[in-house]
Amino acid sequence: MRCIAESVDRIREAPPTPAPPGFSLRGFRPRDVPAVAGIVADALHEHYDTSLYHSLSQQWPSGFLVAADRSDTPIGFLLGVTQVEGEARILMFAVERDWRTRGVGTTLMTEFLARCRARGMRRSTLEVRLSNVPAIRFYARFRFGVTDLLRGYYSDGENGYQMTRDLP
Ligand SMILES: CC(C)(COP(=O)(O)OP(=O)(O)OC[C@H]1O[C@@H](n2cnc3c(N)ncnc32)[C@H](O)[C@@H]1OP(=O)(O)O)[C@@H](O)C(=O)NCCC(=O)NCCS
Repeated sequence: MRCIAESVDRIREAPPTPAPPGFSLRGFRPRDVPAVAGIVADALHEHYDTSLYHSLSQQWPSGFLVAADRSDTPIGFLLGVTQVEGEARILMFAVERDWRTRGVGTTLMTEFLARCRARGMRRSTLEVRLSNVPAIRFYARFRFGVTDLLRGYYSDGENGYQMTRDLP
């Protein structure tokens, strides 16, 4: 993985997307790791080494967005990386159960896509389980379309879709 034009990112970054009441968006901070790892374990059923969050946050700091409640505790996050030039890959995206369907995911995605555009990205990609109908519907609303079927993509053997959205 390599970092593409990180310095330009800071200069051209779009103003933050206004969040509905009850939470706000900010960048990832090292002390967020336990809360973010908890959301990942519950929502994505994955258990990553804590060092992964630190190293990924350094790869593209502005691509790691956190939604925090009034006490500044993370209640959702979106982690994007830039492994291919001009392309932002959404590696992890989840909102705490109690906070779902309240606009947190929409706010995170809207801000993320604005940051991609500000950085001159041409497209955004992601992978999703075929069984994850709510997430597929969510992504379709953001004009992500299925671009590939990934057979046996997940560790339990489930197939995935790659979904892609061009950025105007
Ligand atoms: C996918 C996910 C991140 C979406 O987050 P979210 O905070 O629930 O997203 P939103 O609240 O912005 O939108 C979810 C739905 O609620 C609806 N909604 C938003 N605000 C609402 C409100 N105030 N009242 C009622 N419904 C609302 C939206 O219209 C949306 O509907 P749609 O998905 O059919 O388009 C979340 O469901 C999640 O964490 N899922 C588990 C992890 C996961 O699957 N991640 C993706 C892996 S690829």
